[in-house]
Amino acid sequence: MFDPYKVREDFPIFNRKIDGNNIIYFDNAATSQRPLQVIEAVKSYYELYNSNVHRGVHTLSQESSELYEKAHREVANFINAKDLQEIVFVKNTTEALNLVAYAWGFKNLKAGDEVVTTLMEHHSNMIPWEMISKVKGFKVKYVDINEDATLNYEMLENMVGSKTKAVCICHMSNVTGTINDVERVSKLAHENGAVVIVDAAQSVPHMPVDVKKLDVDFYAFSGHKMLGPTGIGVLYGKKELLDEIEPFLTGGGMVRDVKYEVSSGSVTADWAELPWKFEAGTPNIAGGVGLMEAVRYLKRLGMENVRSHEKELTEYALERLKELGKVRVYGPRRSSERGGIIPFNIDGMNPHDVALLLDQFGIMVRSGLHCAHPLHERLGVKGGTVRASFYVYNTREEVDRFIEVLKQIEKV
Ligand code: ALA
Repeated sequence: MFDPYKVREDFPIFNRKIDGNNIIYFDNAATSQRPLQVIEAVKSYYELYNSNVHRGVHTLSQESSELYEKAHREVANFINAKDLQEIVFVKNTTEALNLVAYAWGFKNLKAGDEVVTTLMEHHSNMIPWEMISKVKGFKVKYVDINEDATLNYEMLENMVGSKTKAVCICHMSNVTGTINDVERVSKLAHENGAVVIVDAAQSVPHMPVDVKKLDVDFYAFSGHKMLGPTGIGVLYGKKELLDEIEPFLTGGGMVRDVKYEVSSGSVTADWAELPWKFEAGTPNIAGGVGLMEAVRYLKRLGMENVRSHEKELTEYALERLKELGKVRVYGPRRSSERGGIIPFNIDGMNPHDVALLLDQFGIMVRSGLHCAHPLHERLGVKGGTVRASFYVYNTREEVDRFIEVLKQIEKV
């Protein structure tokens, strides 16, 4: 039986009061909180195992390398990847998407090609493609959204064709919570010979994910949004694709051999096996260990339970928001098409003012453009939105308090 009150007990931050208020943390799309289990795992890594990985024959380096590899294996298992070779640890989703754009994009894209993305993307699934298109000369095209902020699949189907080399899409929008049918997008892209690159920053923390079933080629997400530490993220890539592309960053830890050739006077290198080929330099080992613990924690909760808890809470919040006369909510109407994210505005009020007023009652939300300026422009809200986003420790009681406070703010 999933019990958010029981879950909360694992999160020390909720013991804190701010100006006498309990913390109501509704900013989970920006970053989640960390349970004691993750905090302890990172602490005990530093206390007991701290050492560099893949570099020493001594006991600590062996143990630390084993832990770090195990972290890759557990993440692979969590999203049903084939094995650790398909799991590259990076800093965050942004770095993962840049890695794909620079490593895969530079090698495979040329003038005359097209990359199809959408207007609901976070900037990190738009700007890297625009940057590379300036050098390589391909075109980036944008699929529109419908009035309820769902994807315009008809437009996508018309846009993807023989020139399309990649379809870049978010699994769940970080603004409207729209859940895209990634399986359908993959099928369409593959029928046209294109690869599918998915920003999964908002999906992996909140719903069951099976990369084999989705048939995605690249899939990027961040540890800090799924109860793990900051500074650790994941790029899943199909082995055959990761094998064929060149590394994005080069240097230590990612080579098999480096030779100085006297005849040519130059240095040549060949790469370490996957995934280390993409992990140049000393990685975030403690972050990897913390992420492994976060994955274990989520598995114990059960991702089906996580999804249904958030779905229920979102439905409840959306229903209660209807009690407010001046509130306008954005995003899909059907809860099957939306995650636990609710963007809204109060008529005549700046979103930052609303967020500041909520903060005075201990309610933490994000306000502004949420790194998705084109989407806000498309929604007709250039000034931004207030965004409430839920996770495993949020409760109906917190939603009730949120509505009560919003009613007071509305009166102001
Ligand atoms: N991308 C994160 C958000 O949407 C930071 O808030």
